[in-house]
Amino acid sequence: MFLWVHYIDLVTALLQLPVAVAAGWVAPRLRSPGAAPRWLAAPFALLLGGAALRLVAGVLLLRWGWEFAGPRLVFVVPALVVAATVYLVWWRPARKPPGEAPGEAPRVAAVAGAAGAVFVAAVAQLAGAGAAVVAGLAVLGVAAMGWAYRRLKRGQTPAPAGRWRTAARAAAGLALVAAVTAGLSAASVLPARSSMTGGAVDTGGGGAAGHQHHGGASVTDLTGADTTASAAGGDAAVRRFTLTAQQTTVRLDSGARVAAWTFNGVAPGPQLVVRQGDLVEVTLVNRLPGVGVTVHWHGVDVPNAMDGVAGVTQDAVAPGASFVYRFRARQLGTYWYHSHEMSSVQVRRGLFGALVVLPADAAVQDDAVADTVLRHTWGNEDGVATLGLAAGVQRRSVPAGRQVRLRLVNTDGNPAMFTLTGAPVRVVAIDGTDVHEPGVLPGVRIRAGGGSRYDLVFTMPDRPVTLRADGPGIVYSPHGDAGPDQQGAAPAVLDPARYGTPAGTEFGAGSRFDRRFTLRVDERLGFYDGRPAVLYTLNGASFPDVPMLMVSGGDLVEVTYVNRSGQHHPMHLHGHHMLVLSRDGRATTGSPWWVDTLDVGPGETYRVAFRADNPGLWMDHCHNLEHAADGMILHLGYTGVTSPFLTGSGTVNHPE
Ligand code: C2O
Ligand code: CU
Repeated sequence: MFLWVHYIDLVTALLQLPVAVAAGWVAPRLRSPGAAPRWLAAPFALLLGGAALRLVAGVLLLRWGWEFAGPRLVFVVPALVVAATVYLVWWRPARKPPGEAPGEAPRVAAVAGAAGAVFVAAVAQLAGAGAAVVAGLAVLGVAAMGWAYRRLKRGQTPAPAGRWRTAARAAAGLALVAAVTAGLSAASVLPARSSMTGGAVDTGGGGAAGHQHHGGASVTDLTGADTTASAAGGDAAVRRFTLTAQQTTVRLDSGARVAAWTFNGVAPGPQLVVRQGDLVEVTLVNRLPGVGVTVHWHGVDVPNAMDGVAGVTQDAVAPGASFVYRFRARQLGTYWYHSHEMSSVQVRRGLFGALVVLPADAAVQDDAVADTVLRHTWGNEDGVATLGLAAGVQRRSVPAGRQVRLRLVNTDGNPAMFTLTGAPVRVVAIDGTDVHEPGVLPGVRIRAGGGSRYDLVFTMPDRPVTLRADGPGIVYSPHGDAGPDQQGAAPAVLDPARYGTPAGTEFGAGSRFDRRFTLRVDERLGFYDGRPAVLYTLNGASFPDVPMLMVSGGDLVEVTYVNRSGQHHPMHLHGHHMLVLSRDGRATTGSPWWVDTLDVGPGETYRVAFRADNPGLWMDHCHNLEHAADGMILHLGYTGVTSPFLTGSGTVNHPE
């Protein structure tokens, strides 16, 4: 429903542009309404209809709250008022005896002004201009109308222009539009070198390290207290892995070959399995041709220096070079890792894999049959959707009576619907964190947002169990030969806000917050780094212009996400877990719902809270990585923490 209202309003605004131009074009011919053909009224009727439609849309949006309706009504109301003026001064008096109708001068000025106002309001809205700009333009519009009125009244109306003059005017208009477009495009080009903690950097100079120390800590110092080799000497083991980024051709089950970038030649990358408390040491080696690479541990609250974000916590690892990541695996559960250099390209091409942290006690959980299922779309967001490398239905054998734990990972940006049928099932963990007292469901559908993970547990019956993921699927059966079941009634969609039972948390909706932030997502047309794009802005801005969320160590922080756009935005905060407090104003009632990646759907408002207990400089971005590449990124910064690294075309770092 929100989507309909949202896009009807946007498309109407878009259509108003040519209609308003047509209306402006015919306005001067309306000087004597009696003589002007009736069809000249058509553009005005359309403008009036469009304004009315958008007014209805704005009023309907009140259901989602003033945050949603207010900004729309700002753009609709002036257009509506002026459109009504047209009706009153021109259309209605035209039916009256000539003596009672206003003179032709105010009439033409009013109708031309009306068309202009609608045009300006539509452009302002589509380009995401603020209320101040709209007010300024409205004042200009009124002044222009007054000027036109006086000219017309003095009888200074020019004779209708000849063909050449008309053509020249049209050409001048087009040239103006082209110049403005080129100007906006040029203005959107990102600085060649920018620092997260210091804005644009205009110094030349070679390496990134060295400058930018104004006291306080550098991200490079934030390596964690207990991650030196000697600290691991005691109880816990050191788990060593090597991930080699390389070019590989992978085969999908369809036989199609994909030119992929992989870790260790396999896609998805190798699953890294460690135990809680282990010291994890991963050596990243880059053998990609001509591009840098990093590894980010998605959902693992690692020390900042190990976060793997190019240009924020390290320089991208150059071809031939290597980098060692070291962190303590404190959190149990299902995570994943992926490159955070050119991530919209590199993750899509295959530079990702699963990271599983098992309980320290080997006896626990090890009797379950575990299956990690990574849903990934190859090519582009509309490409081939697979589980692993299979776009079709896979068959696996599991002896009846065994417990099965599925670890579902959505590596894409759009939500994926996972459906499990054939056995009673529990959703035991979300984003790595255990659900408190998860109830048994007869079957389940899970709308997994981009980057999120869900763990399911069921006991294998003596009949098949089917997992589907919007296309690809897996059938588990005792002999591994069963086909997918006939799809009966689809199970209910899991609502994590109402699933499981409440349990104590260190903070909650009633806590006193040290900082509160609101992040509003809007959709607009514009330019990003010189190219035209549909922008999803955060508080009206795109990276690197979105102000940082600044916190101090220990702060309790509340963030409200308001999605006023028509797309899903899986908001991912690095280095912290967020407790979901409410959705659309209604408090969560189930298990504490902890996330590192929260899918905020169109029209949704989420309130979340987290403790700022992991100092550093942390990305907070949309995990639809195409959106991130178009600037849907901001950072969480701790006061006093600086980064010596730079991003931009003049550096080796392109984290998005
Ligand atoms: Cu999964 Cu900023 O990343
Ligand atoms: Cu997004």
